[in-house]
Amino acid sequence: MSLIQIDMIDIKSANEIKKMRVASRLAAEVLDMVKPYVKSGISTDELNKICHDYIVNAQKAIPAPLNYNGFPKSICTSINNVVCHGIPSERKLKNGDIVNIDVTVIKNGFHGDTSKMFIIGKSSVKAKRICRIAQECLYIGIKQVRHGMRLGEIGKAIGAHADKNHCSIVRDYCGHGIGTMFHATPQVVHYDDGNIDNSPILEAGMTFTIEPMVNLGGFEVNTSKIDNWTVTTKDRSLSAQWEHTILVTKTGCEVLTLRDEETDIPVLK
Ligand code: MF3
Ligand code: CO
Ligand code: CO
Repeated sequence: MSLIQIDMIDIKSANEIKKMRVASRLAAEVLDMVKPYVKSGISTDELNKICHDYIVNAQKAIPAPLNYNGFPKSICTSINNVVCHGIPSERKLKNGDIVNIDVTVIKNGFHGDTSKMFIIGKSSVKAKRICRIAQECLYIGIKQVRHGMRLGEIGKAIGAHADKNHCSIVRDYCGHGIGTMFHATPQVVHYDDGNIDNSPILEAGMTFTIEPMVNLGGFEVNTSKIDNWTVTTKDRSLSAQWEHTILVTKTGCEVLTLRDEETDIPVLK
């Protein structure tokens, strides 16, 4: 068996890139729109409804998670020790919680996928720290991206930052190619899997997500046997995740899901 990844990674045409920009901007705008509502006392179901209605009615777009492999809601909401794929429910946010909201929209057949952490009220030092380190991991990953680079450099850089901060990177879930498909090749691992030299060489026109999930404790995770979706840390430690959809360019990359609140971050310029 060959170790070389031979799966094709799609290169988007100028027209497809335009559509990726539109879908990605819409996804980013949902996170901006929902921000004032993400407060103590609101349930994640209410956040789901606010996002769903905005995507469908204001954006005239489709919430990609809804019915995706049977997922029952329009966004993912992952609180505290939930790593990803949290299902919106009657659970209300409370002071000190950290929550990831993950939004994917489909517009004109193309997907935009992005997520960020929200801190509810006054949170602990460790809660703030895991949110910050996970965001730094995303930005450090983004900084590696350029035409001609190996895909595996992204995970290596992210993993090193997590190690340095005594946090761990989830291995069971990755970033992914994105376009007309929600999840396409390549798989974007967020740690050094020892396979960098065999990883694909990035080319301008590729689009994929980077979405590190970073745990305060160990990297191991469980998937709920009750709902078959909710992923939690095995040791119940806090977990944080940030995600962008990016386009590889000759000189670096374009962060297609960039929000206004991020425009001061040098690596994203
Ligand atoms: N948005 C998630 C990602 O970043 C995927 C969610 S799949 C769902 O890849 F079915 F849970 F919505
Ligand atoms: Co994604
Ligand atoms: Co996502």
